[in-house]
Amino acid sequence: MKNNLDLHIPVLLPEVLNFVKSCNFEQFSYLDATFGRGGHALEINKLFENLKIIAVDQDMEAIEYGKQLFAEKEKNEEIVFIHSNFSKINGYKSLINNFVNNTGISFILADLGVSSPQLDDAERGFSFYKEGPLDMRMDHSQSLTASHIVNEWSEEDLIELFITKGEVRRPQKVVDKIITRRKIKKFESTDDLSYLIEDCLGWRKKGQHPATHFFLALRLEVNKELEVVENSIESLLDLLAPGGLLLVITFHSLEDRIVKYKFKELAEAKGKILTKKVVQASWEDKKKNKRARSAKLRVFERGAYVI
Ligand SMILES: C[S@@+](CC[C@H](N)C(=O)[O-])C[C@H]1O[C@@H](n2cnc3c(N)ncnc32)[C@H](O)[C@@H]1O
Repeated sequence: MKNNLDLHIPVLLPEVLNFVKSCNFEQFSYLDATFGRGGHALEINKLFENLKIIAVDQDMEAIEYGKQLFAEKEKNEEIVFIHSNFSKINGYKSLINNFVNNTGISFILADLGVSSPQLDDAERGFSFYKEGPLDMRMDHSQSLTASHIVNEWSEEDLIELFITKGEVRRPQKVVDKIITRRKIKKFESTDDLSYLIEDCLGWRKKGQHPATHFFLALRLEVNKELEVVENSIESLLDLLAPGGLLLVITFHSLEDRIVKYKFKELAEAKGKILTKKVVQASWEDKKKNKRARSAKLRVFERGAYVI
């Protein structure tokens, strides 16, 4: 089994550990809403004896990896794995409550987006640097893929998608080319699309592939990432014990804005925001880990009362 740090370096790790160490409970439990390669889970597990972990991921590969990584802990019934989108967490409430003896969860981490192994595996179709099928699903059991969007969506819908989720100011030129090209031959691979965008726009920003924002928009749409965050924060908060923490790590401005405003909206009824200023990685960590450069952490503490 490959070392998980070779696969994925957890971002904002010291900052996350500092927050969870500040919690005060007799028995600790942790829900990892985005288990990935268990980078955060492994380090958090070292801090607490007999920590109960609920590991959630919508990618079966992450779950399979976790089962090997924590085989001993699973045998000791200290970890359960849930292969699901965390937006469906309410459906697992009784399983979770039984597992933690109805004490509520001490802390929940949602480290959003894709993992390095997902990005690095050409077959998953997330990267414009690797040729693979134009797929981008985190969960292979769902049917919507990036190629469906690119090949089937109307001109108007593609334009709206690239503006709203990719924050591309003028996507018309690229969309025109997509429409012309797909009449002759459908898009099948990541290269089909990334070369077309590169041809159409050229390299404008040093170090940033011209397809970056188009690929981001497609990935967000395929996995409904923004809608999931918006609609799940309250359900996650409701699983916490009073005094428990919800930590959310985002990687781009649209996602961060949703978390920021959702936390504000819920602060009066559910608890308080611990990160008045968003937490970012140290300069050293940003140098070591490219993904850490855009990572932002926000933390919410569940209040002692329930409404
Ligand atoms: C950034 S990685 C998490 C990395 C993990 N913290 C670590 O240190 O190894 C994100 C993971 O969350 C999963 N994921 C993203 N959104 C999800 C969602 N809405 N529900 C369940 N899993 C999700 C992805 O499949 C991916 O494995």
